[in-house]
Amino acid sequence: MLTCSAGFAQSKLTVQANKPIADIQPTMWGIFFEDINFGADGGLYAELVKNRSFEFTQPLMGWKVMNENNGNVLILNRSAENPSNPRYARISVNEKNKSFELMNEGFRGMGIKKGNTYTFSLEAKIPKSATGTIRAELISSKGDKIGSTSIEISGNDWKKYSADFISTATDSKASLTVWFEGSGIYDVDMISLFPNDTWKNRAGGLRADLVQLLADLKPGFIRFPGGCIVEGRDLASRYQWKNTIGAIDERKLIINRWNTEIANRPAPDYFQSFGLGFYEYFLLAEDIGAEPLPIINCGMACQFNTAEAVDTSDLQPYIQDALDLIEFANGSADTKWGKLRVELGHPAPFHLKMMGIGNENWGAQYIERLRMFTKAIKSKYPDMKFVNSSGTDPNGERFDYLNDTLRKMNADIIDEHYYRTPDWFLDNARRYDNYPRNGSKVFAGEYAAQSDKTVSVNNRNTWKCALSEAAFMTGLERNAAVVSMASYAPLFAHVDAWQWTPDLIWFDNLRSYGTPNYYVQKLFSINKGTQVVPITLNNDVVAGQDSLYASACFDKNKNELIIKLVNVSSKVRTDEINLIGLKKTTSVARITVLQSNNLEQCNSLDNPTALSPTEEQPIGIKGNVLKINLKPYSFTILHIDN
Ligand code: AHR
Repeated sequence: MLTCSAGFAQSKLTVQANKPIADIQPTMWGIFFEDINFGADGGLYAELVKNRSFEFTQPLMGWKVMNENNGNVLILNRSAENPSNPRYARISVNEKNKSFELMNEGFRGMGIKKGNTYTFSLEAKIPKSATGTIRAELISSKGDKIGSTSIEISGNDWKKYSADFISTATDSKASLTVWFEGSGIYDVDMISLFPNDTWKNRAGGLRADLVQLLADLKPGFIRFPGGCIVEGRDLASRYQWKNTIGAIDERKLIINRWNTEIANRPAPDYFQSFGLGFYEYFLLAEDIGAEPLPIINCGMACQFNTAEAVDTSDLQPYIQDALDLIEFANGSADTKWGKLRVELGHPAPFHLKMMGIGNENWGAQYIERLRMFTKAIKSKYPDMKFVNSSGTDPNGERFDYLNDTLRKMNADIIDEHYYRTPDWFLDNARRYDNYPRNGSKVFAGEYAAQSDKTVSVNNRNTWKCALSEAAFMTGLERNAAVVSMASYAPLFAHVDAWQWTPDLIWFDNLRSYGTPNYYVQKLFSINKGTQVVPITLNNDVVAGQDSLYASACFDKNKNELIIKLVNVSSKVRTDEINLIGLKKTTSVARITVLQSNNLEQCNSLDNPTALSPTEEQPIGIKGNVLKINLKPYSFTILHIDN
């Protein structure tokens, strides 16, 4: 319980800096990306045009005809020529001196920055005339023109056209209008607008501010692309990585499973364009120094939805997808899929070492399919590590069955998920203390404290939630012998287009911020150390006695001791820490604190770092004893040189 204790608490802790208990894996603290809450399209993927290829179920969703009198739009299908992206728009303009105007609303508007360069591009042909002009205009939320460019179209064969222009104003809710000038017919597809200030300035790339927030976490791994979207509502809408690589206009769009999933937060315009596909995920992992952890569909659709499972006699193509993915990531240019990676621009392998088979799948049908995957893949790639599902909950019949069975199967890594109350997190700081030290490792693959309840739209990223996660995470760190990876979930949410809350990072079309939970994750990750060392209170681990939680680790590379202390009470507490095994007898402790007296405090777009870490005055250590005051409701990190 987060308490309101009566007086000062005091305790005498002992840290044994020279008695490592376990190695901390470099993968320990990572991130989990899923295209939920407009995390990819409308979020990380910087495309500003929604439904650029008219492939949404409603082909003109996101588009608006502005002047019906001057012409019309006909949606045509060329599936024989382009089966992955069959639809295009035929614009007929009635009269010579008129223009036809089509507006795209973007993803809840378009975020446009003054002075920034934008690339407008499209595929087009002009069947009945020699040439024609298409003009793009950026329109602010007040209706002003804030940038424009023109493109001359020629010929009755599909060609790609593009033009750059600079915006004259900043607006988070701008729109794009496309003008088709003069009488005639224009055929258009893949109408796109990209900012040029993407991450690493890659054309058609990712939003730099969002990637930067991820990079700042220094994540040990990135799990992608889900989550439930891996499973799909049914098998037809499962995530298939091969459909997400190669030419952008050949990536077949599908509905996003979160489109209709949360009744209170419908998002009928939520689709997956796969502009952010598996090649881009691997690049992202490489850019931010994270091990890639792709999750593959195991032959089962989401069991909360259709629960459709492929007959085991038809499972081979699913297994082949996994085998081909390994070849795509690691294979040489002599292999089919390795060659493709090289052609896409990455001759070096991506060094894929692990993959997940299934997301939150459960039951005997999962185990049956998992065995088939494991046998086939391990016989070809014996060193590949697998992440296996323990279902949707951290306890109960489903969990017990999977946990027992997977451990008997010598599963490499078992993925546990917990969306629970802050009190659950506090009460479970000892969860892993008695897990077997040998055998399967644990991946805390999805967790977040829920201020209301799971899937409630009232959940908020409060300090209370973040503090309880910090307390729980000391238990993960203390048990690094068992827990080799952990990631908060979900990662991203668009403030105007989310389905699931709480989330680690929130953004609108121009701005973004890390929640208090983000700073907890960051503090653990950037202070992860290399070995766990004991920190005890009366010979017991520190896991909630008198509202205190603690863990300690040693960083061999920096030659320093790192102590993490979480005070979940409303009172200042004074603790003495007896430091055993440090070489220096006199030293100082550098102190970082994340703290608020207000458990309901959140960060926001307008006040993004209201709750964020601060550096405090270092304190001296004499005779190996450190005396520290821990603020109410605080997460404190101490660094002590050896
Ligand atoms: O993180 C949101 C969802 O929660 C994930 O897609 C799923 O794995 C879990 O149920």
